[in-house]
Amino acid sequence: MPIFWNEEQKEFHLTNGIVSYIMALLPDSSPGFIYFGRALDPSRSYAYLQYLEGRGASTQPEGMPAEYCLDFTCREYPSAFRGDFRTAAIGARAKDGKPLALDLCYRDHRILDTKPEIPGQPSCYTESNGEAETLLIQLKDEYSGLEVDLYYTIYSAAPVLCRHTCIRNRGPDTLVLERAMSSVLDLDDDEWDFIQFSGSWARERHEYRSRLRPGSQAVSSSRGMSSHQHNPAVLLARPDATETAGEVYAAVLIYSGNFEIGADVGSHGHCRLYSGINPESFSWELKSGAEFYTPESVTAYSSQGFEQISLTFHRLFRERLARGYWRDRERPVLLNNWEATYFDFDEAKLLAIASESKALGVELFVLDDGWFGKRNDDTSSLGDWFVNTKKLPDGIDGLARKIEALGLRFGLWIEPEMVNPDSRLFEQHPDWAVGPLGNKRTLARNQYVLDLSRQEIVDYLFKTISSLLGSAPVSYVKWDMNRNLTEPVSACLPPERQGEFFHRYILGFYELYRRLTEAFPKILFESCASGGGRFDGATLAFAPQAWTSDNTDAVERLAIQWGSSYMYPLSSTGAHVSDVPNHQVGRITPLWTRAFVAYFGAFGYELDPLKLSIEDREAIKRQIVFYKKWRAVFQFGNFYRLKGGLQDNEYAWMTVSADKQKAVVLRVQILSRPNSRSSRLRLRGLDADQDYQVQVLPSVQLKDDASIRLNSGSRTGAELMHAGLICGGDGWASAGRGDFASWLFTLEADNES
Ligand code: GLA
Repeated sequence: MPIFWNEEQKEFHLTNGIVSYIMALLPDSSPGFIYFGRALDPSRSYAYLQYLEGRGASTQPEGMPAEYCLDFTCREYPSAFRGDFRTAAIGARAKDGKPLALDLCYRDHRILDTKPEIPGQPSCYTESNGEAETLLIQLKDEYSGLEVDLYYTIYSAAPVLCRHTCIRNRGPDTLVLERAMSSVLDLDDDEWDFIQFSGSWARERHEYRSRLRPGSQAVSSSRGMSSHQHNPAVLLARPDATETAGEVYAAVLIYSGNFEIGADVGSHGHCRLYSGINPESFSWELKSGAEFYTPESVTAYSSQGFEQISLTFHRLFRERLARGYWRDRERPVLLNNWEATYFDFDEAKLLAIASESKALGVELFVLDDGWFGKRNDDTSSLGDWFVNTKKLPDGIDGLARKIEALGLRFGLWIEPEMVNPDSRLFEQHPDWAVGPLGNKRTLARNQYVLDLSRQEIVDYLFKTISSLLGSAPVSYVKWDMNRNLTEPVSACLPPERQGEFFHRYILGFYELYRRLTEAFPKILFESCASGGGRFDGATLAFAPQAWTSDNTDAVERLAIQWGSSYMYPLSSTGAHVSDVPNHQVGRITPLWTRAFVAYFGAFGYELDPLKLSIEDREAIKRQIVFYKKWRAVFQFGNFYRLKGGLQDNEYAWMTVSADKQKAVVLRVQILSRPNSRSSRLRLRGLDADQDYQVQVLPSVQLKDDASIRLNSGSRTGAELMHAGLICGGDGWASAGRGDFASWLFTLEADNES
């Protein structure tokens, strides 16, 4: 049993033999944190590790010993207004605005042999008994009657803890929650680097690493979506931590809305890592008897660097967060017409593209934006989900059937949460759009957001989109969302409850996604928000893959896919080969480099196959044959980052099949350098005793290609991991390859030798 309660010491110990999470009640009966790290012996007590020491200029609860200082002890769910001046987990006021100094004391606990769902919100799950146990600690503030249930789930085989909270008003009076965090982890020192995944549209999830300093440092969103700007994930790593060594903690929030994840370094050098709904744009009225659930936060620990953190998240998110028919299935190679045609298409053009795609080996044709209403650019028709018969005279059904007759599956783009002012829907329901505040609404991409905090709008969208999807053989849906939320007011909420809007919007979004994916279980859904604006764990729970970024340039994608890979598995990462010059940055990269980078994900094309040269056409056929052969390793293998980072000229990473019989390694050299130094690329994750046949595919093959000559052949796993592959510059031959050269190395177990 992985959860232990020591009655005498009032101590909890959650362990699975990999990690231990230990807490004990503090002198005032509030839960205090003791330890999260490598597994310790659960038959012993560690309560002595609690920080009970007097501190100058500190605070104590009345009647408590002087060595119990509220802003010095490590706590599990600290409340605001009570003398712990670090970032609070919970803050509430009485209806009249009076602050509540919640004194949340232990009442009881339960150990569950399952992982409960969070009502209305996505979370990780279990599939069979014994996979996980959950500790539920019940706290209560006697004065107000507010109860807090803290949930901690420990999986039997992973160094993670899933946490969320239920806050319940058992008192007679209405209360207002002002902050409600999902998790707090009070580390007892501040020797950590803060690692965040930040950027902007077309530049998502770049890795930034900086040293912690006193005070609070955080990433957050107030855009109504998890955002391009900051991913809801933070790592704290020892300053010398590498991929394979050093302690790392991670907090990843399973939430698509406004979040905050931060590290607050207090005056005594402790560091509080917290995660939850962004309190800046949040308040929630809790009537007597009502309850509120926070989103799930997944906290992970590694004593062996980032690699373990990533392997842990990849497995958990791929197998116990993503769900449904497509979870474990290989994803089809798709061709999306967006960059091929933008809005300028008709049925004949689409069928010509589809038929050529089929000849190349593509399996799924995706019709992107522009098929509905009178939409010929981005100024109109969002909300009018009926086909534009000028473009598609036989409707979506007719087109889909013709595509299927070509031997392809058919996929469709939708953006259900939106409405253009120039649309029939807006004409009929101008009050369905979020806002206004004052007399104007802010536009973004000429559109408004539908108020998904309103049940009748969610119901309407479910009806409309499900009848669309039911009307034709649709195998795939790209669910887009192309603007941030502004003027956050809902026509259905009274003035004093407008602080609930953002979270209610997300609950409506979840409900719509859940109902549609349940109604169409075999449709492969891919999330998108102008690329990677909602690339988070919550969308992954509904759709097993997401469009990683609108930026399809192979070089730009290196940093984006590198950063994404810390948390999110390759199977969730949509990656396509596009045309050159690239539409986002104008760069010209070799066709094979574009494919090699996009291979590491759910692969496809985003170009017009009718415009290909004969040579490129043949190359793409070979690319697709190769991908299909290695697809399972690309989508479901164990992923290792080998070399890279924002300032680097070189990136390398690899994926290894679970049985270690196959692996694929990518190396990309961004700019070509003459006579550059050579190096060895040490691989990871292989079977040391296994012989592997190594084959080399350079993006541009030279006449006497040293990369092929020196690396091909049989090598042991040990040799490849300890000595490595030879990565020469090309000496005098650099000019032959040019910029953006890349190499793919395939490794296949050589069981004959
Ligand atoms: C967003 C998506 C793109 C494309 C366009 C269509 O920007 O990220 O992939 O679907 O919308 O308007």
